[in-house]
Amino acid sequence: MSLPLAAVTGAGSGIGAAIAAELGRRGYHVVVSDIDAEAAEATARAIASAEFHRLDVTNPAACDAFVEEIVATHGRLDVWVSNAGISKMQRFLDVSPADLARNFEVNTFGVFYCGQSAARAMIQLGTRGRIINTASMASKQGRVPFLADYVASKFAVLGLTQAMAFELAPHDIRVNCVCPGFVATPMQTRELAWEAHLRGSDPETVKQMWINDTPLGRLQTPEDVARVVAFLASDDAEFITGEAISVNGGAFMD
Ligand SMILES: NC(=O)c1ccc[n+]([C@@H]2O[C@H](COP(=O)([O-])OP(=O)(O)OC[C@H]3O[C@@H](n4cnc5c(N)ncnc54)[C@H](O)[C@@H]3O)[C@@H](O)[C@H]2O)c1
Repeated sequence: MSLPLAAVTGAGSGIGAAIAAELGRRGYHVVVSDIDAEAAEATARAIASAEFHRLDVTNPAACDAFVEEIVATHGRLDVWVSNAGISKMQRFLDVSPADLARNFEVNTFGVFYCGQSAARAMIQLGTRGRIINTASMASKQGRVPFLADYVASKFAVLGLTQAMAFELAPHDIRVNCVCPGFVATPMQTRELAWEAHLRGSDPETVKQMWINDTPLGRLQTPEDVARVVAFLASDDAEFITGEAISVNGGAFMD
């Protein structure tokens, strides 16, 4: 009997890399993908049973072909994690149509395309599949500075997660999302520099502001998020679908 199989997008860095590692520790064969193949390779190398691929989630034909290849090779697809995402901080009035489009292409359309590809395969295989999307604290509140396009794209992920959960429930596929807060990753390092610049401040001061905003008193680690994703993938979450689980140390409570 082959290992259960989990595929993670945007797994070359930060939260995605931690999710891939955690699922690997929990006994999955992990298909690590990223638009950056070298980064995906580095993640896969540290996991007991893993492989890596380049996947750009904004290309629906590539998403379909990727899932078909997984199924042709392994004959299974148990868990799909749509984690790839981008951000660029700027004032609402400065967001160009091109920046807005790119943000939605990766953060929202990518989740949509991958969800379709994964769900089609799970239905065809008759798998009790689990799909988990990486949304954000910015999926639940728009009181986030300098990220208007990101907020819009991530609110959409939360709604999409519910719609997918509703339509895929008859196929015994559960769909949930996680909503991280301030997670120490390369994305955060870029955001600290942007926000410091936009506020006329410095990254250390901004970081302290974010920590002060977090009742549990520290930045999140990618592993904080990864463990919740692993829970949602597990049978412990057997009756949870359409949920958006906050993992943010209390920075936003709903
Ligand atoms: N870091 C945070 O504070 C935070 C908070 C809430 C939500 N998130 C979300 O978590 C997810 C991971 O973020 P992170 O902080 O680990 O960021 P990160 O920048 O460290 O990693 C994101 C990964 O996605 C990949 N990627 C970008 N565009 C892609 C594409 N078109 N196709 C495939 N892969 C692509 C990048 O190459 C990178 O490896 C994102 O969806 C992000 O929006 C992050």
